[in-house]
Amino acid sequence: MKLIVRQQMADKRFFLKITALLMALVYVSGCANLGQKEYLEGKTVFGEKAMVVSAHPEATRVGVEVLEKGGNAVDAMVAVHFALAVVYPAAGNLGGGGFMMYRQPNGEVVSLDFREKAPLAAYEEMYQDENGDIIDGLSLAGPMASGVPGSVDGMLKAHARYGTIPLKELLQPAYTLARSGFAITAKQANNYNRYRKTFIEHNRDSTDIPLVKLEGEWAEGDLLIQKDLAATIKRIQKAGRDGFYKGKTAELLVAEMKAGNGIIELEDMAKYTSKWREPITGQYRGATIYSMGPPSSGGIALMQLLKMSEHFPMGDLGFHTPETIHLMTEMERRVYADRAKHLGDADFWEVPQKALLDDQYIASRVKQINPNKATDSEEVLAMQLNHQESEETTHYSIVDANGHAVSVTTTINSGYGSKVFVSGAGFLMNNEMDDFSSKPGVPNVYGLLGGKANAIQPEKRMLSAMTPTIVEKDGKLKMVVGTPGGSTIITSVYQVVMNVLDHEMNMTDAVSSGRVHHQWKPNFIFPERDALDPAIKKALEKMGHQIKERGSIGRVDAILVGPDGKLEGAGDPRGDDWAAGF
Ligand code: DON
Repeated sequence: MKLIVRQQMADKRFFLKITALLMALVYVSGCANLGQKEYLEGKTVFGEKAMVVSAHPEATRVGVEVLEKGGNAVDAMVAVHFALAVVYPAAGNLGGGGFMMYRQPNGEVVSLDFREKAPLAAYEEMYQDENGDIIDGLSLAGPMASGVPGSVDGMLKAHARYGTIPLKELLQPAYTLARSGFAITAKQANNYNRYRKTFIEHNRDSTDIPLVKLEGEWAEGDLLIQKDLAATIKRIQKAGRDGFYKGKTAELLVAEMKAGNGIIELEDMAKYTSKWREPITGQYRGATIYSMGPPSSGGIALMQLLKMSEHFPMGDLGFHTPETIHLMTEMERRVYADRAKHLGDADFWEVPQKALLDDQYIASRVKQINPNKATDSEEVLAMQLNHQESEETTHYSIVDANGHAVSVTTTINSGYGSKVFVSGAGFLMNNEMDDFSSKPGVPNVYGLLGGKANAIQPEKRMLSAMTPTIVEKDGKLKMVVGTPGGSTIITSVYQVVMNVLDHEMNMTDAVSSGRVHHQWKPNFIFPERDALDPAIKKALEKMGHQIKERGSIGRVDAILVGPDGKLEGAGDPRGDDWAAGF
């Protein structure tokens, strides 16, 4: 008996020794990997050559590794985009759309519109009942909420023109992350648990939803494996565009839509195409701003705000002083009123771009501003706008070793889009149709109102607020910036640009400091909770402003090029956002 016990103990010791040895080996190889790793990562990172900042550490690493092996910013963009579709399903996507700004070292800037389109069978009153009343939630959740996705076409189109590494290789990290899984963050675990019921409610088979755990709750560090998504990525690796817009993926997508009265057909998929667009460009305090034009409102609105700001010494007035916030509010009030009335997809609606950015028009708007008193929003313009957003779009910024810069904002609209996973294909569909104005005078989920300019028409793109932006100074790249946040996207980018150019902040401070938002209607200044001192709020109230504190605004992922050419990457502390560079 004793002998047996001793033998067992000896076995156990042997087992422990072997385990320790194996662990040591794993540790050493981990260190070796760390040794090989030539980039730094964190919330703030300084790099000599290249930088990636995105909403998830895994996606950032995928991007920086592409840059390390000599890929350019567009190669990294493709790898990051597909990786985000796997590791950040709330907003990273194959089933959504977005906008890309790209600056080459010679200073040429192009922009690509891969925004979703209304399906061919869409029509202006499609979300109204027989009495003309809006059917609650129809444009928001379920298959009818989706536009025809543009992300895959956009990524592949940009890659075909500018990429240097084969597509298959760039998609491999995303494939592996989906096939073998990755460890989710604490924020993600909470989120997936919170959305469990919603996902089950909106999907046909509750055992087939990647983000729903069959037993128990998600916890930080749990492995999320997405085999169907991996198979979809594989089809794109093999067949390119046709791996998504035709064949099995498209068939699965259309079947999913039809199962719930959705109207996206195979023809919609086959016809979808992203489009190169002229960037919106203008000057601000000696810097040149490049941002996205229609169907995004971002570029025009940002440029209007900056052009108005140039009439005032914003830097001297100081960061978050009552004077500065008052002026910003008054400008925003006017810009958002214009947005509601005049902006829509320029392929379908004549956007008066020149007039909106005209110096004299801007000066006339500035003249209306009383430096000491709030204007009543009702007096600014007849059309109403009222906007509350969730925070589930995502932005990433990339600079490569040769100075190419990419700024991409992409979305499936609200958190987890339409909440519908394409069964068998493993990805979420957008609920971007809600960005259209479903009926004049009736607000969408964010409280947005609109009119003809943004009414639904077949193949039209819904108006966006996404504002991927690139700033250049003295002919050199200065800043790459953007954020999620719905209507607050525009004012967040505006504030970060001003924080750097007027308030002389570094990028980390520019990104992390408090944000304040106004959008004409509802007539409130929305500061992030605790962003403004009580004395500042009091002073603003005295001028006639109403203030409503809210949760965090945006998640800015940005890169600043210092005077010495050094890159500062800043991932927003409000999220899991992460920078890496070398
Ligand atoms: O394109 C737009 O403006 C919206 N679909 C963006 C939505 C968004 O940013 C939601 N999360 N923050």
